[in-house]
Amino acid sequence: MGYVGSRPALGIVLDGLRRLEYRGYDSAGVAVVAAGRLLTEKRAGKLANLEKILAESPTAGIADGVTAIGHTRWATHGGPTDRNAHPHMSRDGRVAVIHNGIIENFAKLRTELEAEGVEFASDTDTECAAHLLAAELAKQGEPSAEGLAAAMRRVCQRLEGAFTLLAVDSAVPGAVVGARRNSPLVVGRGSGENYLASDVSAFIEHTREAVELGQDQVVLITPKGIEITDFSGQPATGKDFHIDWDASAAEKGGYDYFMLKEIAEQPQAVADTLLGRLGENGEIALDEVRLTDQDLRDVDKVFIVACGTAYHAGLVAKYAIEHWTRVPCEVELASEFRYRDPVLDRSTLVVAISQSGETMDTLMALRHAKEQKARVLAICNTNGSTIPRESDAVLYTHAGPEIAVASTKAFLTQLVACYLVGLHLAQVRGIKYADEVAAVVAQLQEMPGKLQEVLGTMEPVRELARSLAEAKSVLFIGRHVGYPVALEGALKLKELAYMHAEGFAAGELKHGPIALIDEGCPVVCVVPSPAGRGVLHDKIVSNIQEVRARGAQTIVIAEEGDDDVVPYADHLVRVPRTPTLLAPLVTTVPLQVLACEIAAARGHDVDQPRNLAKSVTVE
Ligand code: F6R
Repeated sequence: MGYVGSRPALGIVLDGLRRLEYRGYDSAGVAVVAAGRLLTEKRAGKLANLEKILAESPTAGIADGVTAIGHTRWATHGGPTDRNAHPHMSRDGRVAVIHNGIIENFAKLRTELEAEGVEFASDTDTECAAHLLAAELAKQGEPSAEGLAAAMRRVCQRLEGAFTLLAVDSAVPGAVVGARRNSPLVVGRGSGENYLASDVSAFIEHTREAVELGQDQVVLITPKGIEITDFSGQPATGKDFHIDWDASAAEKGGYDYFMLKEIAEQPQAVADTLLGRLGENGEIALDEVRLTDQDLRDVDKVFIVACGTAYHAGLVAKYAIEHWTRVPCEVELASEFRYRDPVLDRSTLVVAISQSGETMDTLMALRHAKEQKARVLAICNTNGSTIPRESDAVLYTHAGPEIAVASTKAFLTQLVACYLVGLHLAQVRGIKYADEVAAVVAQLQEMPGKLQEVLGTMEPVRELARSLAEAKSVLFIGRHVGYPVALEGALKLKELAYMHAEGFAAGELKHGPIALIDEGCPVVCVVPSPAGRGVLHDKIVSNIQEVRARGAQTIVIAEEGDDDVVPYADHLVRVPRTPTLLAPLVTTVPLQVLACEIAAARGHDVDQPRNLAKSVTVE
């Protein structure tokens, strides 16, 4: 985050960092320009460590400066230590730089700089940028804000990779310069003050007016204004937008953790994502569709690319899209997609799912798809982020800001968006199952109410979680759309409880994984509705018996009224009756609560699990 104005900058930047900390929490640091000097403080670990130092023994004058930058880090180059924490300074102490992303040619730059006698004080790639910037400034005459921006442009021309950079110059009080390539940076427009941040939550308390930057741009903020250019110095204009998030969306609002609050917000998030999308005659409207109906009719293959939880939403979507549209659909981890030379052409629709809209793996998959002339549709929760901006069509999920690192409400809204895409494609292409699709539209409308019901019955899950806190391993099984739910349940438990957890297609157990089961091993079984696809239901009931016969402790998630599972369930969690394809919306919720409560019982930081970051802007 960066701030320039007339108010003391330190507190503003620390508040902003608190709201951004979910993006990375390996270390934190600030640099304040005060009385012609750069005052910095940085510490390994969470922001609280830095705040403690600043409260107990503040550097003299640091609270007075009105220009500052601050950073929370997710380590890439160099371990999470004090010395690798940002900001990084030039040797003469004139400039301080903070950075997100990876400077890919840093080894070459470092060798060059060392040959010129520069001594490095850290193991980071970022430090190169600080030395290069100081060298560019040293070539200039009288220091000025414009000179600082010009020096940043020249530095950017030498950098390869992905970066957001912010810098301050002690010789130019009242200016912060920023630059971005393939990594997020937004401007907050204030009155007599301006802000820069990785996302708007950092300054939402101070201003709702923001400016979106394009790729490869440098931005200079001063109390008087905002100047944007490309890397060659050509003036550029950003896109103004108004932030309509409620500031309280980024507060815990009485919950112990953001994650619990976000789980509780799911009925609303689903309702908001459906709002305005389902027309009276059942037609589905997408946002920002720069594709014609003919383009969609020409689609002969769908690829879904995403990472982590968003990938699991894609796995569910495959069942719905293929069933409703009869178009083949493949789901692929975005990080694998472009490296295996997938077969794509003009009639391929690539659906990129991303909460943040900035995940580098997904962005690179999208760009690869576009190079091969495929059409790209983004499902995204962050307005104006890179992935929707580079796509041909967008369907925004309206989950609101998701602060907890583990995704919950964004996942449910991604599922809803995937259903909408499937229904839209089915409509445009001529519906094969007209009755079924009309029924699904009606059933989707009932989901917020059903989710509210599920949330009201979670107390037994919390109790169960406490009893599982010492388990060594938890297995999850499911079939059909229950399989991705099992994967998602296992992912939540891994990332929050740091426990071994694995999701399996229940039918695969007998091909190997069943050997993992021993006395007392908890196995979470996601059971589909007995209605409709009865065979599927009966098969998983058999699988539950198989694991129980080998000593497993079974935790069964099943529909109300499903009595077949009762004899085989050590713990039974009921969810409302829901058609098979939509069931992940309700069966996922108990698994989120289970993981959250097990993690809390083990004493973990639920909102900021170790080693993770919310927005992964490196490949
Ligand atoms: C897990 C989680 C991650 C993200 C993944 C993709 O709880 O949150 O697995 O789903 O990093 O992030 P987005 O959706 O921002 O592209």
